[in-house]
Amino acid sequence: MKIAVVGTGYVGLVTGACFAEMGNDVICVDKDAAKVERMRAGECPIYEIGLPEMLPRNIEEGRLAFTTSLAEAAESCDIFFIAVGTNPAADGSADLTAVHAVAREIGETIQRPAIIVDKSTVPVGTGEEVEAIVREALEKRGDSIEFEVISNPEFLKEGAAVQDFMKPDRVIIGTDSEWARKVMGDLYSAFTHKTDRIIFMGRRDAEMTKYAANAMLATKISFMNEIASLSERLGVDVENVRHGIGSDPRIGYSFIYPGCGYGGSCFPKDVKALIHTAREQDFDPAILDAVEWRNAEQKKRLNEKVRARFGADLSGHHFALWGLAFKPGTDDMREAPSKVVLEHLIGSGATVTAHDPEAMDMARAELPAEWFESGRLRLVEHQYDALDKADALILVTEWKPYRQPDFDQMARRMKQKVIFDGRNQYDPERTESLGFEYTGIGRGREF
Ligand code: UDX
Repeated sequence: MKIAVVGTGYVGLVTGACFAEMGNDVICVDKDAAKVERMRAGECPIYEIGLPEMLPRNIEEGRLAFTTSLAEAAESCDIFFIAVGTNPAADGSADLTAVHAVAREIGETIQRPAIIVDKSTVPVGTGEEVEAIVREALEKRGDSIEFEVISNPEFLKEGAAVQDFMKPDRVIIGTDSEWARKVMGDLYSAFTHKTDRIIFMGRRDAEMTKYAANAMLATKISFMNEIASLSERLGVDVENVRHGIGSDPRIGYSFIYPGCGYGGSCFPKDVKALIHTAREQDFDPAILDAVEWRNAEQKKRLNEKVRARFGADLSGHHFALWGLAFKPGTDDMREAPSKVVLEHLIGSGATVTAHDPEAMDMARAELPAEWFESGRLRLVEHQYDALDKADALILVTEWKPYRQPDFDQMARRMKQKVIFDGRNQYDPERTESLGFEYTGIGRGREF
C-alpha cells in the first residue's frame, strides 16, 4: 500500500514522515512549489522535535518523496490522507474550500481502488460531502473505481507532534466499511502495538469526537481561568486550588493550569466551528459560547493588570516580554496571547523588548513591520538582554529557561522590579522576598 498525504502543515508533514519512518512508501503533496523544493532537499519547514532528522533519513531511504502534483501521486497511491488547512471563514465555520478542492482532484486522478482519509479537522457531515465530490468527479471521467471516504482525526499536540503520532493515546477510525477498517487497522497497528488503542466507529461519530475532545480541553482551561479570576477577588491562591482539585482522579491534573488564555491553531478554530455547527442546527451552544468568551477575556487579563499598575497611558514606559509562541515547544504564534499583550502595550505608547527561544523569526514575519521600524518593539537573542531598563517583566509563555531564572541578574538589569507572571511560574513569596512586586493569575493578590 502506498500512501499520499495532501497538505504538508503540522498534521500532514508529521503524518507523512511518521508513516515513512515505519517503513511505508509515502508521497507528500503540496501546492507550494518553493516549500516542496525545500522539503525535497531534506529541509524541515516547521519547528518540531524529531522531525528535522526524519525527513532526510526517509528521503534517502527512498520512502518519502514530495511533489506539487496530486496526479503524479495518484499514479501509484492507494491511501490518500487529506490534511489541508480548514481555517475559520468570516462566520466562524470551518472553511472547507481546500478540502473540497483536494477531494475533486482525487476523484479526477485516482487510478485504483482508494481509501480517502479526512485527516484535517472537519465538521460533522464533511465525509459525505467529500464522498459526493469524489463520486461526481469519477462520473465525469466515466470511471467507476471503488473508493471509501473515512474519518481519521489527528490528536497530535504541537511541540510533541512526532511523539504523539508515534505513541498515540488512541487512533479513531470512522467508517462502516470492513475493507477500510482492515486496511487502516493494519496501517496503524505499527503505532499501537496491536493494543486496543484503535477505536472504530461511524464516520460522523469520528468527526464529532475530534471537536468534542478539543472543546472539552478548552472548557477545562476556560473554567480554570474563571476560577482564577474569582480567586483574585477572594484572596485565594488558585495554584493551591488547582492542586486540591487535580488530586481527584475524576478531575485530574492536566489542562487545569490557569494562564493568559489558550491560543494556537486548534482550540480557537475548533471551538468557533463547533459553535457554528450548533447554530446551524438551531441549537444554543451555551457552554461553548462561554468558553470562547472567557478565553477572549483571559487574553486581556495581563493588560488589565498592567493598566492597574502603570495607568492607561504607557508613554515613557518600557517592558520586557518573555515568550511569544502560543505555548512552549513551538515557534507557532497563531492566536498567541503575546499578540494581545503587545498590541495593548505598543498601542498605549510603551516600548517593548521581547525574547522567545524559537518564535522570533515567526514574530518578525507576523507582527506589524511598523512596530520594528519605529523601534517600539525589539527582539533580543538572550532572555536577560530583554530586561535592561524595563519597568516590568511580563511572562507570557512558560518556556523552560524562564522557569528558574537568575533573579539577581534580573534585579540588576530591570529599572523597576515588577513581574507580571501570565503562567504562574514563580512563587509569589519567594519573588517578593527578593524585592520584586509580583502578580500572577489568580494568586489572591492584585495590583
Ligand atoms: C491541541 C490539542 O491538545 C491536540 O490534541 C489537538 O490535536 C490540537 O489542539 P495544541 O494546539 O498543539 O494541541 O496545544 P495544547 O498543548 O493542547 O495547548 C493549547 C493551548 O492551551 C495553549 O495556548 C496552552 O498554553 C493552553 N493551555 C493548556 C492552558 O492555558 N492551560 C492548560 O492547562 C493547558
